[in-house]
Amino acid sequence: MALFRASLFLLIYIALLSSLCFAEDPYVSYDFKVSYITIAPLGVPQRVIAVNGKFPGPLVDATTNYNVAVNVHNQLDENLLMTWSGIQMRRNSWQDGVLGTNCPIHPKRNFTYNFQVKDQIGSFYYFPSLNFQRASGGFGPIIINNRKVIAIPFAQPDGDIVIMIGDWYTLNHTSLPPQMIHGKLRATLNGISFVNPETPIRLADLHKVKGAYKLDFPKKPLGRTPQMDRSVINATYRGFVEVILQNNDTRMQSFHVDGYAFYVVGMDFGIWTESNRNNYNKWDAISRSTIEVHPGGWTAVLISLDNVGVWNMRMENLDRWYLGQETYMRIINPEENGETEMAPPNNTLYCGALQSLATDVPDSSAMALLSWNSNLFLTLVVTILACLVLH
Ligand SMILES: *[C@@H]1O[C@H](CO)[C@@H](O)[C@H](O)[C@H]1NC(C)=O
Ligand SMILES: *[C@@H]1O[C@H](CO)[C@@H](O)[C@H](O)[C@H]1NC(C)=O
Ligand SMILES: *[C@@H]1O[C@H](CO)[C@@H](O)[C@H](O)[C@H]1NC(C)=O
Ligand SMILES: *[C@@H]1O[C@H](CO)[C@@H](O)[C@H](O)[C@H]1NC(C)=O
Ligand SMILES: *[C@@H]1O[C@H](CO)[C@@H](O)[C@H](O)[C@H]1NC(C)=O
Repeated sequence: MALFRASLFLLIYIALLSSLCFAEDPYVSYDFKVSYITIAPLGVPQRVIAVNGKFPGPLVDATTNYNVAVNVHNQLDENLLMTWSGIQMRRNSWQDGVLGTNCPIHPKRNFTYNFQVKDQIGSFYYFPSLNFQRASGGFGPIIINNRKVIAIPFAQPDGDIVIMIGDWYTLNHTSLPPQMIHGKLRATLNGISFVNPETPIRLADLHKVKGAYKLDFPKKPLGRTPQMDRSVINATYRGFVEVILQNNDTRMQSFHVDGYAFYVVGMDFGIWTESNRNNYNKWDAISRSTIEVHPGGWTAVLISLDNVGVWNMRMENLDRWYLGQETYMRIINPEENGETEMAPPNNTLYCGALQSLATDVPDSSAMALLSWNSNLFLTLVVTILACLVLH
């Protein structure tokens, strides 16, 4: 009997292994036509950004390890990038859809995002990342289901109902910023108000474009005059970064990192000091891609830098992000051999110093949490401030 069980187990194990190793992961594909429609969510007719005529946009329904292809057709009269908040894009920052890693999709053009939703399950969302577009819509839900072979700790739900909650304004994304933002106000992280590079960071590296950005994001507030710059974090592959967010602003802020789930190890009111490290939760800290930072308080997160690429780090609050409260982490494997970072896809868009490489084809439808190795440890004390930058 025991023998029989053992061999049955072996059989199942082999069957599982072979399905893991040899079957190609399934594909799902979507066409997203992004256009303006007029509707009245608050009773006032207004122009909103719709996906396939819908607001919010359609559900991207995938199962972990699926390959997802989304062909985004820009039917707006402005540039567009779609970002996939919380999707880790393992080894593949080419698909992240933010200006530091991707050139924008011009009006009447399309771009197909190809990515694998790997080793993660849950609810996520996509949204247009440029300017204030998210305030006019263009967003929608993403569900990544568990594979049958991986159990979930609750009964299989009878169905999913997606609820999207957010601020809504009767002003559209072109009228809103002048109302919310006065004059030359900019917002900073460590005294830097980020300016997007003309040439996306990793493309600049691969094509040896000099001076597209700087690797000098300060590790702590320097107390100098705030400035506008293209300062990026020089992070070490397989190292750790500890980010302490001190919110000196008067409102709740949400901190987000692309490409990763980080561990939230501490959060309190007051000013963070080194002694707060003694109380960090190093055992069962929650892992997520967005966390709140209370006004007059701090939040500490730890990130294990295992995903090569260039990843946006930002305040998710739209006005603060727009005003420069973001930067990027550049994580390069010095021994890259094509295995820890994917090559740029064959449909890569080019711009800035690489504009001459662009083949602008109109859209046919155009229409154990920690090892405290100090060599691998980068501590960032980030002060979130809104302040005036003079240029
Ligand atoms: C644009 O869409 C068409 C089909 O609608 C497709 O053949 C083409 O490959 C797409 N281009 C890109 C860059 O995704
Ligand atoms: C936004 O609203 C303003 C004022 O109503 C209008 O002039 C502008 O065309 C609108 N922009 C878009 C993209 O809908
Ligand atoms: C970035 O960090 C690496 C070590 O991880 C170092 O060798 C390199 O000189 C740094 N680059 C800059 C510009 O600071
Ligand atoms: C943040 O506020 C605290 C308390 O008011 C102050 O000590 C600290 O210097 C402030 N930091 C910055 C960068 O303004
Ligand atoms: C470009 O890449 C996509 C997805 O990786 C693939 O389906 C397609 O065949 C490639 N096209 C060419 C011309 O290599």
